[in-house]
Amino acid sequence: MRLTFAGSAGTAAIALAATACDGVQSALTPAGRGAEQIAELFWWMVGGAAAVWLIVVGLAVYAIAVRPREHSERSSRILIIGGGVIFPTVVLTILLAYGLSLLPPLLEPAPPNSLRIRVSGEQWWWRVRYEPPGLPSFETANLIHLPVGEPVEFLLESPDVIHSFWIPSLGGKMDMIPGRKTRLTLHPTRTGTFRGVCAEFCGDSHSMMNFDVVVQDRPAFDAWLASQSAPARAPATASAGHDIFMRSGCAACHTIRGTEADGIVGPDLTHVGSRPTIGASVLPTRPESLIRFIEATSTVKPGVHMPSFDMLSESELDSLATYLLELR
Ligand code: CUA
Repeated sequence: MRLTFAGSAGTAAIALAATACDGVQSALTPAGRGAEQIAELFWWMVGGAAAVWLIVVGLAVYAIAVRPREHSERSSRILIIGGGVIFPTVVLTILLAYGLSLLPPLLEPAPPNSLRIRVSGEQWWWRVRYEPPGLPSFETANLIHLPVGEPVEFLLESPDVIHSFWIPSLGGKMDMIPGRKTRLTLHPTRTGTFRGVCAEFCGDSHSMMNFDVVVQDRPAFDAWLASQSAPARAPATASAGHDIFMRSGCAACHTIRGTEADGIVGPDLTHVGSRPTIGASVLPTRPESLIRFIEATSTVKPGVHMPSFDMLSESELDSLATYLLELR
C-alpha cells in the first residue's frame, strides 16, 4: 500500500517536473544556441551525478547486505583513497573541463553588423530600445521581438539596482549593473513566443518583472520594426481618453510618440495596445487590467513607482483604458 502510494507520488512528481520543463520559460526545451549548450551541459552533469550516486550506493549495498565481512586495513585504505579522492577528482575534472570548453562560444560577441538592442532594467520593468538602420529609433517596454537564425547583441544596463537579464529558452543570463554596460549575445534557432525574467533579487516586485519575447522570421520582424517605429495612430489622439491622459499627469512620466506626451520616467506607451501584457507581464492587455492597474497600481505591483490614480471616476478610467488599447 505504502509502496503504491510512493510509486504514484513519484510518477506524479516526474509528470509535474516534465510539465514544468516545458513551455515558454524552459531552459530544457532550448530555442537558441546558448540554451542548447546549457541544456547539454545540464544533462551531462545529471549523468555524472547519477553515475557517482549509483556507484556509491551500489558499494554500500554490497558491503552491508551482499558480502558483509571484515576488511583489511590495506583494502579499506585503497577504497577510501580510490573512491573518496581519485574517482571524484577524475569525474569532477572531466565535467569542469567540459563545462569550461562551452564558455568561449557563449561569451563570443556578435558579428559587427548584427542587430543590437539596448535593454535597461528599471524598478520593475524593462526599457527596450531599438535603433533599426533606415528607421527612426524607438523605445518599447517589456517586449522584445527577434529575428530567427540571426545573432543579436543585447547591451544591458541599469540606472539604480542590479538586475539579471535572462531568457531561459534562448540562452544564459547576464547581470545589469549600475554604472556599467554588459553585453549578451543570443542566437534564436526557432520561432515562437518565450518569456524573459529577472534572475537577480532586485526589490519588492522582482518576481513581477518579466517580459515577452517573440522570435519570428525576418519579414515579420521587419514589419514589426516598421509598425513600432511609427508614431501613435492619429485617430486615437482625438478622444476623451487622450484628454484625460494629458490632464491627469500621465504625460509627465510616459511618452506617446506623435502626441505631446514625452515623459521618460515610465514605459513608452506609443503602442501599448499591441503588447500582449501590461505591467511587465503582470496582467494581460485587456480593458479591465488597465483599469485595475491605473486605479490601484501598488496593489497589483508592490513597491511600484507609479502612483494609484484612484481619484479618476469609473467613466474616466473606462475612457483612459479605451484610449490606451487603441494605441496599437
Ligand atoms: Cu530586477 Cu529582479
